Amino acid sequence: MSRKLIIAANWKMNKGPAEVAAFLETFLGAAGELAEQADLVIAPNSLSIPTASALINDINPAIGLAAQTVSENENGAFTGETSTDMLKELFVNYVILGHSERRSIYGETNAQINAKIKKTLAADMTPIFCIGETLAEREGGQLEAVLSSQIKEGLEGVSDISNLVMAYEPVWAIGTGVTASAQQAQDTQKFCRSVVEELYGAEAAAAVRIQYGGSVKGANSAELLGQPDIDGALVGGAALEADSFLELIRNAVA
Ligand code: 13P
Repeated sequence: MSRKLIIAANWKMNKGPAEVAAFLETFLGAAGELAEQADLVIAPNSLSIPTASALINDINPAIGLAAQTVSENENGAFTGETSTDMLKELFVNYVILGHSERRSIYGETNAQINAKIKKTLAADMTPIFCIGETLAEREGGQLEAVLSSQIKEGLEGVSDISNLVMAYEPVWAIGTGVTASAQQAQDTQKFCRSVVEELYGAEAAAAVRIQYGGSVKGANSAELLGQPDIDGALVGGAALEADSFLELIRNAVA
């Protein structure tokens, strides 16, 4: 089965509205044809989403817009949170969930991530569901157990994953300049797909797109995204500049 690549920029806590506008003024025009070859998504911080939304709608509506997290609750007394209703009003169509920074810095648990995935799916937006092991877990022989429980607990009670993207991000490769080798990433993502198959059957497992994330850049995107079980990238540092993100995308789709 051929799966369309999906390449997303996760800007984390970078770029206010002015910087987002400057990036998109370069990126949106240049990304025109590339957006036919791969699904392209940007994930600004929530304050910059209105600016991004307006520019995407004006210049290139094929580009996807993601939030970096969302509340699992309906509108109400949840100080500091953002709801799916608010994101939908701004035409956000993806939500990154379970990123390792949310897990490790803000203590998000598999159960909370599960609730957010359900809320996002119920709002007709696509979760980008992140999983990944630490170096200690990998070296301690727990790689498969950790990923398997993140996947199973994160998807508990989710009956349909046709509108869900996964992202495998080894924690030790995020922002470190250390990339998993293409073979390591391929082997691990093949394992993740086998867990999906156990839960949802062969057809769903063959259809689900799994991105790789962790120090992806122009110089390695072709090799990584050329692996059979790697269907895209979730990019931090190399997506902060329009030119380097465009180069990464061009090399991957070539
Ligand atoms: P880097 O590309 O900076 O390693 O970040 C990866 C990441 O965490 C994307 O979500």
